[in-house]
Amino acid sequence: MSVGERDPFTGHQTTGHEWNGIKELNTPVPKPVYFFLITLGIFALAWTLLMPSWPYGSGYFKGLLGVDQKEVVAKSVADAARERAGWMARIEKEDLTQIQSDPDLMRTVRENGLTLFGDNCAACHGANAKGNKGFPNIVQSPMLWGNDPETVLQTVTAGINGTDPNTRVSQMLAFGRDGTLTQDQVSLLAGFVKSLSGPATVTDTNKEDVAKGKELFATTCVACHGDDAKGLVEVGAPNLTDDYWIYGGERKDIYESIFHGRQGHMPSWGARLTPADIKIITLYVLDLRKEGGTTAAAGGGS
Ligand code: HEC
Ligand code: HEC
Repeated sequence: MSVGERDPFTGHQTTGHEWNGIKELNTPVPKPVYFFLITLGIFALAWTLLMPSWPYGSGYFKGLLGVDQKEVVAKSVADAARERAGWMARIEKEDLTQIQSDPDLMRTVRENGLTLFGDNCAACHGANAKGNKGFPNIVQSPMLWGNDPETVLQTVTAGINGTDPNTRVSQMLAFGRDGTLTQDQVSLLAGFVKSLSGPATVTDTNKEDVAKGKELFATTCVACHGDDAKGLVEVGAPNLTDDYWIYGGERKDIYESIFHGRQGHMPSWGARLTPADIKIITLYVLDLRKEGGTTAAAGGGS
């Protein structure tokens, strides 16, 4: 078939290509395509003239509009710094309850607290602050040293068994290892302690042992854990009747706690973070506890 043949139906010439009897028509490029090409060309030209574009020896063409992205960034950084200085000053100055009652400030606390907590606390307490074995759940469990905001701030600042001169000091003695109690006695105590949060573990066969454990508890443990075993904030001794365990609530974990003792170490943050950052983290934790919905039940024991 030859080039230039005309299609009788459309009137277009053919290109001369033919596939299995189907011939290709030589139709013109659609007008909208030209339109787009021309518009784009004009736009590109205008953009290079208006905005910073072509580099030359010692600089670049700044554009007729004089837009400078560096200035824009510098300005937004300066704005952010000014804003930060504003709320930082308030965090430094105001006391915890004042800050808590300001929803705007608390929004800032939440944003910044999340990062600060992630960087400093999550390694031990977990990203959600609900703890890991050996590191307490600080969202839901009662605070060993007391719940009110200033007390928690003090705990975080000074640490527990930390390096700060004001650190909180606590120790669960190693009753078995030190030979104060025999293995059997430790075992009886573990059975009794377990029964406090799990009454169902008391059966007809072990109820005498649990009673013996209770007697031992009354003579050996109440000084720190309290007559009702609900803990004493004065010595940071935990409530043994609830479902929150720092070191695990299985009978064998409890046995270990009593036999080998425990001495949790919480760093003294006063030496590592600014007072304002510690305030933010503390408020952030207290806020999580509010959301956790268990603040009312918490009381560090007695
Ligand atoms: C190196 C691990 C570690 C890191 C990091 C850590 N903690 Fe702790 N934290 C502990 C341990 C262990 C305890 C429990 C101490 C005990 O058993 O007496 C604790 C206890 C606490 C308590 C409970 C105090 C109470 O009265 O019961 C709070 C609140 C707390 N930490 C907050 C924080 C905050 C906020 C950070 C980050 C700034 C942080 N912790 C970082 C190990 C850590
Ligand atoms: C000198 C005070 C003191 C005495 C006495 C004491 N405790 Fe403790 N006990 C503590 C402290 C403080 C802790 C928390 C240690 C920590 O978190 O690092 C603790 C922790 C525990 C734990 C672990 C709790 C958990 O959440 O994992 C158990 C179980 C326990 N004690 C049982 C006993 C029993 C049983 C006795 C009596 C034989 C006893 N304690 C006597 C201070 C004491």
